[in-house]
Amino acid sequence: MRATSLAVRLLLVLGWAMLAPPTVSEDTGVGTPPPLAPGQAPPLPKPGPLAGPRSSNQVGFPTVLTQYVISPTTLKPARVALGLKLFFEPRLSGDGSVACATCHDPARAFTDGRPVSVGIHGRVGQRNAPTLLNALYNRHQFWDGRVTTLEQQAALPITNSFEMGSASIGDAVSRIADDKDYQTQFTRAFGRGVNGPDMLSAIAAYERTLTSFDSPFDHFIAGEANAINDSAKRGWELFNTKARCYLCHALTENQRDVTLFLDNDFHNIGVGILRHHVVPLARRAARELTQGDLPGIDTAAITSDLSVLGRFLVTRKQEDIASFKTPGLRNVLVTGPYFHDGSMQTLWDVMDHYNKGDGITDPWLDKDIKPLALTEPEIDDVVAFLASLTSPQYKALGDREYARQRTLSKVSRPQRDTARAFGPKPRQPPAPPL
Ligand code: HEC
Ligand code: HEC
Repeated sequence: MRATSLAVRLLLVLGWAMLAPPTVSEDTGVGTPPPLAPGQAPPLPKPGPLAGPRSSNQVGFPTVLTQYVISPTTLKPARVALGLKLFFEPRLSGDGSVACATCHDPARAFTDGRPVSVGIHGRVGQRNAPTLLNALYNRHQFWDGRVTTLEQQAALPITNSFEMGSASIGDAVSRIADDKDYQTQFTRAFGRGVNGPDMLSAIAAYERTLTSFDSPFDHFIAGEANAINDSAKRGWELFNTKARCYLCHALTENQRDVTLFLDNDFHNIGVGILRHHVVPLARRAARELTQGDLPGIDTAAITSDLSVLGRFLVTRKQEDIASFKTPGLRNVLVTGPYFHDGSMQTLWDVMDHYNKGDGITDPWLDKDIKPLALTEPEIDDVVAFLASLTSPQYKALGDREYARQRTLSKVSRPQRDTARAFGPKPRQPPAPPL
């Protein structure tokens, strides 16, 4: 081998190595975060400016509703500050590796960007982490609404074996009880020492400060005609008419709702149900789970295949099989992937799902789901409207995420089925006996 050709080849190899993507992938902040080593919990985010309480000085802020859901005493600044600290506290988990913020990262609009969440020891759950922005307004917490208050909610992940894995709330408390800072902060906030109920109240108080409005859409509604573009304006019209979104993403069907885009209700919209044999699962749930056993339901929802039964786990009513809570749509551009199981990557996939009226063989499909016959430009318009619900803190992230989803949607539309979207509503099969 002559020296020159060897040098040329070396140069080629080196040049290729420099062009090739780095092997250690870094979190770019948009899309799915990099995969984790087996057995490893996701990295714990640090509290930055995005973790801070939001001011009520936001266009679109629902003052009356907020006064209705928050009692002024719970929002004492000392409680909120303590709650923020606890929200980032990994010692509340069994091995000191996972905090609330692990799955509700403020930099990702209080989600984790994964289809389903990963907790202690890298355990992979069954459900997608919802945003905590505006969760203070939820009438029910969790996709199946198994609790109603933020205090009740906060207790469950701390002890869930796939999330934070503490043996009990007392166990979690015991790991911070000797900490001088916490002793001072609990006394300041509640007038007594470190204890479980006050810990949960403080976390809930902090969550009640996470209001998120002031989006381009809010400015448009407030009278700034150019705050959103024409496509988003057409999307808002479609949302309330042909696309039928208002049937669930609004408090009433008679009046346009510009606040939270939810109905405080549960529906089976056909997500994932075709992949599961729900009848045997429903029978198993009836056998194995005592109705009203909250820790049992929490374990089933996060760690087992009974998770797909949704609201049925809570109510045991046949019509609630695979029903999930209608989520609010604020900041939805930056809280993907979508649906209770994180099964859809882009808002175009979500639109394709609704457009074809998915769930043909689902006997419990909500009667309001049917083919929509939306054209491609109309789908783009609804997505543009949804993107206009992004609050200003997430504008830069939203722009990058919109570009990412747009690019992805050009090469991959796994949910698109134009023939069905423009076809008749399929006949629903009768519900089988349980
Ligand atoms: C391992 C990931 C993980 C951790 C840790 C975690 N969560 Fe969650 N959180 C989730 C998932 C997943 C859901 C949805 C579960 C379901 O609906 O069954 C959820 C749901 C919620 C909800 C309900 C929101 C809604 O719209 O229904 C709130 C509130 C919440 N979490 C707050 C917290 C708090 C507070 C902590 C810490 C005490 C915490 N989470 C820890 C993953 C996590
Ligand atoms: C029959 C009631 C119903 C109708 C009609 C409806 N939705 Fe939904 N929507 C829901 C429910 C329930 C979920 C959660 C379902 C699940 O996760 O399985 C949901 C979830 C979503 C999500 C995912 C949000 C997230 O955080 O993962 C988006 C986006 C969405 N809907 C937008 C729309 C749009 C746009 C329309 C109109 C084209 C629409 N919806 C029509 C009830 C409805």
